[in-house]
Amino acid sequence: MTATEAALLEPSPPVPPVLAAAAGPRRPRNGPARVIADLDKPNAPHFCAGAAMRPDSVLTVNQLLLMLALAEQAPEGPFVEVGVYKGGSAWHLAAIARLQGRTLHLFDTFAGIPYHDEIDNHPTGDFGDASLGDVRAAIPDARFHVGVFPDTLPPDLTGVAFVHADCDQYRSVEAVIEHLVPRLAGGGVIVFDDYGCTRGATRAVDEALAGQIHMMNSGRCYYRRGD
Ligand SMILES: C[S@@+](CC[C@H](N)C(=O)[O-])C[C@H]1O[C@@H](n2cnc3c(N)ncnc32)[C@H](O)[C@@H]1O
Repeated sequence: MTATEAALLEPSPPVPPVLAAAAGPRRPRNGPARVIADLDKPNAPHFCAGAAMRPDSVLTVNQLLLMLALAEQAPEGPFVEVGVYKGGSAWHLAAIARLQGRTLHLFDTFAGIPYHDEIDNHPTGDFGDASLGDVRAAIPDARFHVGVFPDTLPPDLTGVAFVHADCDQYRSVEAVIEHLVPRLAGGGVIVFDDYGCTRGATRAVDEALAGQIHMMNSGRCYYRRGD
């Protein structure tokens, strides 16, 4: 087990100093307890101080922090997200990509879940309230691939360093594994955000990658090429 994997299996990561700063002045000793962020709730306020433009995410802060820690340490190459919705997780990936000089590719219908099989939790059209214009405005330097994945996958997108697979349904996650695992750089990582959460995503990962995934303390998992 690498040091990073050991760290990911530790209890929830510490609250970043920026979060504590955003929470405002400390309460007096023995005063009422103050929750500055619930790491297991979606859309926790103050995750990123001063980020008024940050779109909402359905990820918990814990999921976000673990996913971003893996992205930050990925080998050279572009980032990919399949399942963008309003751009909440993509906004954070974009910040890392910018700092590290990477390209971020975003894949979504921006019209909601495109199909439903019996195993799936979400009906067709769920997450259909995203606005492509708003996401583009929040993340202007990303490359957008609008439509049903994998139909929208450009043939020249190879050597991928990191994939955030957050597309819920069996067929969508199956397509991510089929089309993006072979395009990963050595040491490249795919985080499966819906593993252990939706039935379809869990089955797709178990069928294709049994024995090759690493669990995270968020209950989600990741695959790394070459492990
Ligand atoms: C849970 S949402 C993504 C949440 C987002 N990452 C966040 O931070 O809030 C799932 C998204 O996956 C998209 N999706 C699912 N399957 C897809 C497919 N095959 N092609 C394109 N988009 C897909 C849906 O349109 C939806 O916006």
